[in-house]
Amino acid sequence: MKDLIKVGVLGSGTMGSGIAQVAAQAGHRVVLVDINAKALDKAKNSLNKIMKRLVEKGTWTEHFANEAFGRIDFSVDMNDFAGCEMIIEAIVENIEVKHAVFSKMESVVDAHCILASNTSSLSIASIGSVLKNPSRVIGVHFFNPAPLMPLVEIIPAVQTSDEVTQVTRELVDSWKKVTVLAKDTPGFIVNRVARPFYGEALRIYEEGIADFATIDWAMTELGGFRMGPFTLMDYIGNDVNYTVTETVFAAFYYDPRYRPSFTQKRHSEAGYLGRKSGRGYYNYADGVEIPEPIKDIATGEQIKERILVMLMNEAIDALFLNIASKEDIDLAMTKGVNYPKGLLQWANEMGLANVLTKLENLFQEYGEDRYRPSPLLRRMVKSGSTF
Ligand code: NAI
Repeated sequence: MKDLIKVGVLGSGTMGSGIAQVAAQAGHRVVLVDINAKALDKAKNSLNKIMKRLVEKGTWTEHFANEAFGRIDFSVDMNDFAGCEMIIEAIVENIEVKHAVFSKMESVVDAHCILASNTSSLSIASIGSVLKNPSRVIGVHFFNPAPLMPLVEIIPAVQTSDEVTQVTRELVDSWKKVTVLAKDTPGFIVNRVARPFYGEALRIYEEGIADFATIDWAMTELGGFRMGPFTLMDYIGNDVNYTVTETVFAAFYYDPRYRPSFTQKRHSEAGYLGRKSGRGYYNYADGVEIPEPIKDIATGEQIKERILVMLMNEAIDALFLNIASKEDIDLAMTKGVNYPKGLLQWANEMGLANVLTKLENLFQEYGEDRYRPSPLLRRMVKSGSTF
């Protein structure tokens, strides 16, 4: 590992400022660039505040905080990326804008500089297509908040060289992150495998099987998830979560497994965005109580198992299509979205034949393609093997 190389971060919003903090606290000189001077000022103030709080809490010494903060240069000029050995882009999710900045970044840096994107939904191959040397493009996908969430998905494009993949992974590992390697396909690992957590929960609600609070109770109390799907969607924002679902659905050529839900669309259209708007699936106004779930264990177990087998099927299909290794798929869900267990390990524990039977029952009852079991699951059950 080349010691303490200079790292560039483009975009000083939610993700960019967090990534700049991660690199600075790991000892790198960091250049944080944004076209918007106000956004840059905001990032500077908020980084300063966050680091002061870490000192107050006793997590960092004052000396460490001053050093880390002092290592970040704030700039509105991309020419200041000169001398960087890696730049991570975290600007608006728009392919034309990303193309323009990648061309510009390449013109400023040396031949060996790695150009990475933190995109959640765009293709790394497409981002790299504008480069003179596309072998230096790579996806480096952090989770929000970047300093706290341990997972980073590393996504080589078809053009990326093995050396760039290796150097990038080693560098991010050295930042005390857990890295997983994912194929350049929509949603990478986490945003693909997690879809049924929302989609199947919404579907169960739409069928009138249970209300939001009861489904959330089933997944937290019986399933061991930290947050129920509706509470989580209210945190993420229904607008944001709906857009990701719609993007993934279109990117998969309208595979019915990823079909968005009218319930979420209507909530989003109504401005019921979640916590940030004061109301989502729940009403967060002062004095309004969150409704009580109906704690019927039999119904709760049914809800939990239906969502769980859909999640497991998605994880198994990701393995079937070589999106990532078995280990990385399980790590991604436990470290990126705090699932209580890796889904493949969980499927082993539940019994693969049992998982298959439950999916086949759903497939038979509904006659819908979304419930089709992964061919890998069928093969494993046939051969009696486990993950
Ligand atoms: P944000 O809206 O908080 O920040 C974007 C920043 O980029 C703004 O400060 C804006 O002024 C700046 N910017 C826009 N165009 C620019 C340009 N041409 N040159 C320089 N700066 C420019 O966005 P956020 O949420 O931080 O997302 C950034 C990227 O990270 C997106 O690609 C998103 O998909 C991805 N991402 C977001 C996550 C999240 O939870 N917010 C999680 C993981 C990835």
